[in-house]
Amino acid sequence: MKTNPFVFGTVVSDENFAGRENEINELTRDLAGKTSLIIFSPRRYGKTSLMFKVMDELRKQDIVCVYVDLYPAVTKEKFANILASSIAQAKSGKLDDIVQIIKELIPPIKLTVRPEEVDVGIELELSKGKEDIDANLTKLYDLPERVAKKMKKKLVVVFDEFQEITKLDGQEIETNIRSKLQQHKNVSYVFMGSQRHLLNQMFNDKNRPLYRAGKPFNLSRLSEDEFSQFIKERFKADGINASKEVISQILALTQCHPYYTQQLCHEIWNQCISQEKKNVEESDIEQAKEQVLKNQNYAYTSMWDSTKGKQRALLHAMAISDEKNIFSTDFREKYRLGASSTVARAVEYLEKKGLIEKDSSDYVISDAFFQEWIKRIS
Ligand SMILES: Nc1ncnc2c1ncn2[C@@H]1O[C@H](COP(=O)(O)OP(=O)(O)OP(=O)(O)O)[C@@H](O)[C@H]1O
Ligand SMILES: [Mg+2]
Repeated sequence: MKTNPFVFGTVVSDENFAGRENEINELTRDLAGKTSLIIFSPRRYGKTSLMFKVMDELRKQDIVCVYVDLYPAVTKEKFANILASSIAQAKSGKLDDIVQIIKELIPPIKLTVRPEEVDVGIELELSKGKEDIDANLTKLYDLPERVAKKMKKKLVVVFDEFQEITKLDGQEIETNIRSKLQQHKNVSYVFMGSQRHLLNQMFNDKNRPLYRAGKPFNLSRLSEDEFSQFIKERFKADGINASKEVISQILALTQCHPYYTQQLCHEIWNQCISQEKKNVEESDIEQAKEQVLKNQNYAYTSMWDSTKGKQRALLHAMAISDEKNIFSTDFREKYRLGASSTVARAVEYLEKKGLIEKDSSDYVISDAFFQEWIKRIS
């Protein structure tokens, strides 16, 4: 049985990854040159997948890469543990070296090495008292630089889902990271995450410790050219022809959003295979769209239910109107949205929920299929 070549919802790599050549080059160059980066983008634009590619490139240059996923960092203790074990698991170089440094740095830790696993697994058990954790954390912040020096290599540390630290300890972690960032000579850092408004507050507010702590990089959607070529090739590999016209219709519908384009193509491919079609037709796009809406109906219902009053009115107005400036008097009056300040409050809520996002300068509904769903219920 053939496997669907359009993948969504997980990190994509190898033949599942499209384009981004310019981005890969720029980010690799910056990081190899010791520039730290803050990557901003709306959700599901492909930050994590892109950064995995960049780390592959950096490793080719003998740079040690550490990927730290902070999503599970629900306590400070977990944060410390994740940080230590991510560094210990940096693939390049000898594992023993790194483990030895960690042992020297934070002596009474239990260390379980599971080399029998494909990815060398390491678990660190740090002592649990609050002071111990703070003391360990302080030392851990220095670990990347120590490892870099010991290995005589450059190091890149990628913090993904970095906004999670704001839920842990006020601004203490931010302050500590900032001071290390300035001292570290052999390490560059990447800060990124899926909640842009929190990262914005952290890196663009003058009063926060990490204000402008790196070069901002705004990741946009894939270009039409990159996506067209990818879609064409992926269908072709399974003997299906997708014409230029059909592909531009697909991309017009998804507006080149990486995740939603893959989601739609995934359904189109399913249809073509089950009906043994050799060509993608316009009607397939329509049918696939219906299928996506059907699959997502439950999720969309709960997204809709999570809004009320003016938030819901705004979401609805944005779905049915072409107006780009949602704060304009005309728009607010036509859809009875109230004063600008009321709209601003609704925007803040909807953005926090991830239902709308700022794309260049305008707010849009994040999920084009959700927009279609809203249009239909009214
Ligand atoms: N370069 C790409 N080529 C093809 N598909 C991509 C690409 N980048 C992203 N995608 C699609 O988008 C989905 C989300 O990618 P990824 O998880 O890397 O994004 P993200 O920005 O890290 O998301 P989140 O904001 O949820 O952390 C992938 O599963 C894939 O379907
Ligand atoms: Mg991600």
